Amino acid sequence: MIILGIETSCDETAAAVVQSTDKSINILSNVVASSLELQSKYGGVIPEQAAREQIKSIIPVIQEALHKSQKSIEDIDALAVTYGPGLIGSLLVGVETAKTLSLIWNKPLIPINHLLGHFYANWVEHRANTQQKAVDQSKNNSDMSTDTNPFVQSPPKFPLLGLLVSGGHSDLVLFRNHNDYEYLGGTRDDAAGECFDKCARILGLPYPGGPVVSKLAKQGRAERFKLPKLMTKDKDFDFSFSGLKTAVNLLVQNLGHKITSQETKDLCASIENTIVEVLVRKTLAAAKEYNIDQIIIAGGVAANQTLYETLLKQSKQSPSRVGIFVPPANLCTDNAVMIATAAFFNNFPVDPLKLQANPSLSLSNNRLT
Ligand code: KG4
Ligand code: ZN
Repeated sequence: MIILGIETSCDETAAAVVQSTDKSINILSNVVASSLELQSKYGGVIPEQAAREQIKSIIPVIQEALHKSQKSIEDIDALAVTYGPGLIGSLLVGVETAKTLSLIWNKPLIPINHLLGHFYANWVEHRANTQQKAVDQSKNNSDMSTDTNPFVQSPPKFPLLGLLVSGGHSDLVLFRNHNDYEYLGGTRDDAAGECFDKCARILGLPYPGGPVVSKLAKQGRAERFKLPKLMTKDKDFDFSFSGLKTAVNLLVQNLGHKITSQETKDLCASIENTIVEVLVRKTLAAAKEYNIDQIIIAGGVAANQTLYETLLKQSKQSPSRVGIFVPPANLCTDNAVMIATAAFFNNFPVDPLKLQANPSLSLSNNRLT
């Protein structure tokens, strides 16, 4: 089966052609156009502007995805599209385009929840341990050779614990099967990615903050600045990150001078460590509570190497053997491969004329379709 996926929930316009065989899910093409330069200029995403960029890019991006896949429209079995959550203007561009194409081409249309879509990047063929291998290669005296995490089965086997960490969401989800999941908890305020982005802004660093903070953190000392690890003592699986941003703001103000380059690096290390520590503690606590030995991480922040390394390290210290899946970095951030892949496993087509974008779709109060 071959699916054309379309993703336009925020500032990325993405289309991908993905093929499923009996054995694996293979990417035939993966095109992502981002209005990142514009967002960097304004320090974040401006919804109106993002929607306008989506309109400009959507047709060329779909054309390029089809062209690169070397498949014709006749070869496509179905269309899959993100219908929420996200920015309404951006979502509408993808949803209305997919509805139109579905009617003109006479192909089934499968709506996908963006949040669930992120998790499905872990089912894509070249997913297995990609980031871990990169980590291994970047360390000569690595203590993390691939066989130190031998509990990763391919593809991931249920039951699974899913940690979604993106710019808008931080959620823990228990998957019993495809389309059978339970929401365990999530952020009560800022998401992990949002916290990276807001802290970066306070430090005068560009958007998106996650990759920049992570890069500078490598040259910093996390011990220098203590930041609050909020809600780690609570027994539930909720997160809170807005206090961390406030603490960083206060710290910077209290320094009483223009922040130096070394202070920026040290603060970056502290911010990254704090966010990672909170995520890892709650995730491993949930895995223990529900007796789960397979964890899938997803979303833009899943591209963070420290998160993966810390999760791997701390899971090895726990008595239960835990396999940790993480997609390659380009499939952690928004893309359409994950949307098409989710559609293979959640193949519930709808009447195109009835599909509506839903900007506030969530994991806690909505099923996949
Ligand atoms: O999943 P995503 O591309 O978009 C949403 O659906 O929100 O996630 C974007 C978020 C941004 O907040 C960005 O700062 C963060 O992911 N991010 C990272 C890294 N790469 C992207 N955060 C930490 N470390 C990274 N390497
Ligand atoms: Zn996303």
